[in-house]
Order: sequence, then structure tokens, then C-alpha cells
Amino acid sequence: MYDGDVELGRNDECWCGSGKKYKKCHLEFDEKLEALAEAGEDVPPRALLKTPTEIARIKESAQVNVGVLDHVAERIQAGVTTEEIDQWVHDCTVKHGAIPAPLDYEGFPKSVCTSVNEVVCHGIPSPDEVLQDGDIVNVDCSTILDGYFSDSSRMFCIGNVSEEKRRLVEVTKEAVQVGLVQVKPWGHLGDVGAAVNAFAKEHGYSVVREFGGHGIGLEFHEDPFVSFVTRAGTGPVLVPGLMFTIEPMINMGRHRIDMSDPNGWTVRTKDGQPSAQWEVQLVVTEDGYELISW
Ligand code: MF3
Ligand code: CO
Repeated sequence: MYDGDVELGRNDECWCGSGKKYKKCHLEFDEKLEALAEAGEDVPPRALLKTPTEIARIKESAQVNVGVLDHVAERIQAGVTTEEIDQWVHDCTVKHGAIPAPLDYEGFPKSVCTSVNEVVCHGIPSPDEVLQDGDIVNVDCSTILDGYFSDSSRMFCIGNVSEEKRRLVEVTKEAVQVGLVQVKPWGHLGDVGAAVNAFAKEHGYSVVREFGGHGIGLEFHEDPFVSFVTRAGTGPVLVPGLMFTIEPMINMGRHRIDMSDPNGWTVRTKDGQPSAQWEVQLVVTEDGYELISW
């Protein structure tokens, strides 16, 4: 049985916070979920579906997150250390009354992830790491505001970046758009990963398998795990209210990664070739999706 099942009477107030009677609000919706679950579909539990009130609060968090990324975009350039980026992110987030979600998250020591060139993800800002002309860098910002989470990341090209690396950055950005096109209510999450993977392959690139997107909103990382190497028509149903990130890591060379860095965080490509990533946060709606953070 669908595990988001609610014990509500038809005349009780709906669980969504609308103030309407259940029968006039989400009763039909819940019956649809129940039927899908009975038909063998993987239906996200109720706890993962955001109410309009929650979405509004999460958007306030995202407003800070997007502002922090804009702040980084205005100042990032050759000669800057990734430690300086960390300070910008930390100070800008705190100034807005929010908390940088990475700080102390499972022991992560900084406020932001900065992943340069062959670093796939989870790069740790350092005063010894100076951005050089020709580098590509992912800056991954996540914010907690009043307990609500937002998360998005962008790539930055530092100075004169080779045509080859610039193309990787652009194609990865397009891959996110290609994934977003697949976000349709009552579709499948696997459609997103299938489209992203096919698009990356068409361009001669490969997609990292071990890391992906995730549910988000009331926690930093919620279910579902969002893989970008899925098959279409598989995985959880894209139920309105489901909120998650699309954040493929795309490698210029092979998909294999190296997680042996003694710091326990920094992930690199095994072949040493560059990797790129863009991340957006969205919520599934009745007629498509709404971007929450970018
Ligand atoms: N921001 C990353 C994500 O997109 C998670 C980083 S976890 C950290 O999911 F601890 F490294 F910050
Ligand atoms: Co994320």
C-alpha cells in the first residue's frame, strides 16, 4: 500500500494547509497515488511532497542561495583563492540571516564546495589553491534559512579557457536543460537521467554514476537519489510537490572516479581529464516544474 496514506475523513481539513476540506482538496490526488502504488509504481511517500507553505519557505532560502552565487559570479577571477570564495559565500550567507549548509555537514570543513578542472565534486576551498587562467571551476552553494534548504551550483570559466573545456562546460549546462524538459507530472524520474546520459554520450562525454541529485527542502539530502544514468520509464513517479535537484557531473573522458583523497571529500576523475557540473533545484507542479534555485 502507498505509505503516504492518510487517515483523514472527507470533511477533515486537508493535509496540504489549504484550509479546505479534504474531499474538496487532495482526496482525489491521494486516491490517484494509491492507485499508482497498487499498480506497482514507485510512488514517493507523502513526507517528500512539499506543501505550498513549505515551497514558499524553501523559495526564501533559495533567494539567498541564488544571491550568494550571483555574489561569487561578480568577483571570481584568476588570482583568487578558493579560500576567498569560501569567505565570500560564508559572509554573504550569514549576512542574510542564513547558514551555509555544507559547513560541518558530515564533517565538511568549509561553507562551499569548489571543484577545479579534474575535480568532479566536493572540492574543499583552500588558501593554497589559486585560480589560474584557463581553469574551469564549479561553485556549489547550499543554504539553510529558518530550517529550509536550497542548493544549486554553477561553472565559471577563468580567463582564457580552451575551446575543449569551454564546450564541456556549455554541454553540461545544456544537459541540465535537457533533463528539465523531462520533468512532467506523473512521468518518471528515470526519464531525466536517460535524457541527460544520452545527451552527454552524443557529445562524446561520460556521466558520473556514483553521485547525483537528491530530494531536498526540509533536509539537505532527501530521497529520491537522482541518477543521471537511468532508463526512461523507470524510477519514482514525478508527483506534484516532489522537490529535487538535477546536477549531473559530466566528464570529458571516462566516467570512472577516484575517491582516494585522504581528506575524505575531494572526488577526481580517474583519468585526470576535466569534469563539469551545473545544479538546479526544482519542484514538480501540476503542469510541469518550477525552478527553485539555479
Ligand atoms: N552541495 C552538494 C550537493 O549538491 C553537497 C555537498 S555536501 C558537502 O548535493 F558536505 F560537501 F558540502
Ligand atoms: Co545537490
